[in-house]
Amino acid sequence: MEIRAITEDEVKAFRLALIETFGGDPEADPQGDERFRALVDRGRSFAAFERGQVIATAAAYDFEMTVPGGSARMGGLTMVTVRPTHRRQGLLRRLIAVHLDDVRRRGEAISGLWASDAAIYGRFGYGIAAESEELSFDGRALAIADAAATDGVEQIDEATATETLPGIYDQARPGRPGMLGRSAAWWLHRRFRDRAELRNGASPRRYVVTRRGERPTGYAVFRHKPCWTHHIPTGTVEIEELVAVDAPSEATLWRHLSRIDLFPNVSWWNAPVDSGLPWIVSDTRQLHRRRNDALWLRIDDVAAALPQRRYAADGALRLAVIDPGTPGPAPAFELQVEGGAGRCAPTDSVPDLAIDRAALGSLYLGAFSAAQLARFGRIRGTAISIATMDRLFRSDLAPWSAEIF
Ligand SMILES: CC(C)(COP(=O)(O)OP(=O)(O)OC[C@H]1O[C@@H](n2cnc3c(N)ncnc32)[C@H](O)[C@@H]1OP(=O)(O)O)[C@@H](O)C(=O)NCCC(=O)NCCS
Repeated sequence: MEIRAITEDEVKAFRLALIETFGGDPEADPQGDERFRALVDRGRSFAAFERGQVIATAAAYDFEMTVPGGSARMGGLTMVTVRPTHRRQGLLRRLIAVHLDDVRRRGEAISGLWASDAAIYGRFGYGIAAESEELSFDGRALAIADAAATDGVEQIDEATATETLPGIYDQARPGRPGMLGRSAAWWLHRRFRDRAELRNGASPRRYVVTRRGERPTGYAVFRHKPCWTHHIPTGTVEIEELVAVDAPSEATLWRHLSRIDLFPNVSWWNAPVDSGLPWIVSDTRQLHRRRNDALWLRIDDVAAALPQRRYAADGALRLAVIDPGTPGPAPAFELQVEGGAGRCAPTDSVPDLAIDRAALGSLYLGAFSAAQLARFGRIRGTAISIATMDRLFRSDLAPWSAEIF
């Protein structure tokens, strides 16, 4: 079966295969083709064709991702589908090979994705690189002290939000590994244009910002979901995104969102795992928290990817990177860190440790410790080399992928 990049004329057929496979209704999203054209390069949208029909799809976004101390380009794999009539015949495997060729051609060292199903991508060298927290609480059952929340809060309309939010986001982004750069088109199509069919009974988006003096320092985007239970208001504030440049602004936003009359419940499906909430509420047990995998990374070109981040300590390591199931010796690399900057090159010397490629993805942004991965055999090496890896790869803030793609 032929797999190739689609042409302009094939956008509709590509999207139809995608929508049908994910169980959607093509009529429900009239802006879909326009959004696709604005955000996705047709040259990196691949489809498998059989007798002129699109059977399988895979596309990629061009992303700039924050990594500890810097940023790296990433091919963001998305829209992966194989029609049910053609499953388990190796089409996904072929699509991933085509995607990785494309990533390499474009000089990206990393491929990343959000998985619809967590069982699929480990075998292709992707590891969980950022987790998220599904968070909910009843604001009536806890308090957030005034002292923690120091800024003013202002509700703004959408036109003001389009001018204000990108600046706050860009200020917060360099400090938080995993966050992605957003183009103007991305803001418009992914963050501002509302899709009524996805609201599920909730209001249009509301926007609040925090200010210190004149300077905006944080924002929350949320929806109101009204509800009355036995005549008692039990509505929910459904958070879509909360971004703050520092801790007091984050606390201010949490305090505001936890005290909106008629909407005592607060929920966010994708909070950072180290949000400030547990440290500022009067009763942490009132917070319902569930961790999920979020961003998955494949560190495809190790020698290029490792120098793209900075390191928490200096040191040197030789690591063999294993692709399970690939015959022959695993390629080895030497990472040398001086003044926090890394240099990395292939080496023939005996490695200090061996790590499987997916585990390297899990380590890259600092989401997990090397000791943790070593305990269950994902890294094998001496205690000293594992400890060195931990000192080097640590990140102050947990990685967070602010949105699904
Ligand atoms: C997931 C999907 C893309 C797989 O496509 P496919 O062409 O059937 O996959 P392949 O035949 O190439 O399988 C490759 C490998 O992945 C495994 N695999 C495929 N889908 C899997 C799943 N859902 N769960 C676990 N393993 C899976 C296969 O068993 C095979 O393993 P092996 O090579 O180790 O034996 C397809 O089932 C699909 O379109 N699902 C619905 C949409 C979706 O979930 N897309 C993913 C978006 S992130």
